[in-house]
Amino acid sequence: MINLEKIKKDFPVLNQKVNGKEYVYLDNGATTQKPIQVIDAVADFYKNTNSNIHRGVHHLSNLSTKIYEDARAKVQKFINAEKESEIIFTKGTTDSINLVAFSFGEKYVSQGDEIIVSAMEHHSNLVPWQMLCERKKARLRILPFDKKGELELDKLADLINKKTKLIAVTHVSNSLGTVNPVKEIIKTAHEKNVPVLIDGAQSIQHQKIDVQDLDCDFFVFSGHKIYAETGIGVLYGKEKFLNEMPPYQGGGDMVDHVTLKKTTFLDAPFKFEAGTVNYVGAYSLGLAIDYVNAVGIENIAKHEQDLLQYATEKLLQIEGLTIYGNAKHKTATISFLLKNIHHYDTGMILDKMGIAVRTGSHCTQTVMDFFEISGTVRASFAFYNTFADVDRLAEGILKVKQMFE
Ligand code: ALA
Repeated sequence: MINLEKIKKDFPVLNQKVNGKEYVYLDNGATTQKPIQVIDAVADFYKNTNSNIHRGVHHLSNLSTKIYEDARAKVQKFINAEKESEIIFTKGTTDSINLVAFSFGEKYVSQGDEIIVSAMEHHSNLVPWQMLCERKKARLRILPFDKKGELELDKLADLINKKTKLIAVTHVSNSLGTVNPVKEIIKTAHEKNVPVLIDGAQSIQHQKIDVQDLDCDFFVFSGHKIYAETGIGVLYGKEKFLNEMPPYQGGGDMVDHVTLKKTTFLDAPFKFEAGTVNYVGAYSLGLAIDYVNAVGIENIAKHEQDLLQYATEKLLQIEGLTIYGNAKHKTATISFLLKNIHHYDTGMILDKMGIAVRTGSHCTQTVMDFFEISGTVRASFAFYNTFADVDRLAEGILKVKQMFE
């Protein structure tokens, strides 16, 4: 069970008034708020510990290094990776995908090869593959989805052929909330020896992730979506690929030996972590994982599913409201439009009532094109949201409607 009263007190941002109203934050798909335990520990780190990692023999540098590597171990455990060396710290999901698109692309993709993505990808899991295909004269193939927002899985096997080098697919759609059957996708791909990258930006904070059970070859996510700082992210990769893939960026801390003629590199994960990495961000991610573990990811999933069901039923009672994304399995994300009312207008009026939602295409223009709309209003929930938050949203939407009628 979740103790919402206690949890809400842990998140300072939530305990304020916006436009004179108690704040209702429903833009968790864009970023999550940070618990005081993370905020205070990061401030303490800068007050007492800060020093660059992997470089010094002095006390604080050793301490910083230990804290950074402990964070790697926490991530490994959290997603059940086999080895710590399979966890690479990046700037975020986008950075992780670009790393794979470049590095995997350099090693394995040639002219005429094919990459498969779905039609519901966030731009971050579409554009890097388009760029790779352009660079290598390869072909990007698309797995479509249907009106409910579910992938047309029966079309996957036919898309895969001898030229397919990788499938990159989102675990959860950021604009529709669909939870994709990634385990099934991975199984189908592996039967044909095709590796799979899972974009976990919108799943890591909502459900238990076990990369060994999924058997995915790459899994990526951002710290800021799971209650940590911005500017930190993770790329999990199976060792067999990481060992073969060339570095993405060159610089300090990723080299073994450098001469003016030639450089040799460290093994993974270090060969992919050039320069001074965001070690404080990694620390914050470890702390956020501690927080999530203390609440319990199963408790989080249960509460969010209850919120989803309650909110869906409540919103569907509003005449003229259409929900985009009605898949059987969803996270607590509801994209909707009110008949004849622009999504920006709805979002701006809700804001005046102290309710934060996202409006627009949510970096998924292809999804909006499919539904022939320019955007939606998106309410995305986290475990600190309450049923009262849902009531405020529903009341707010009714007021928007009244204003336009
Ligand atoms: N990817 C983030 C979202 O869905 C920014 O809002």
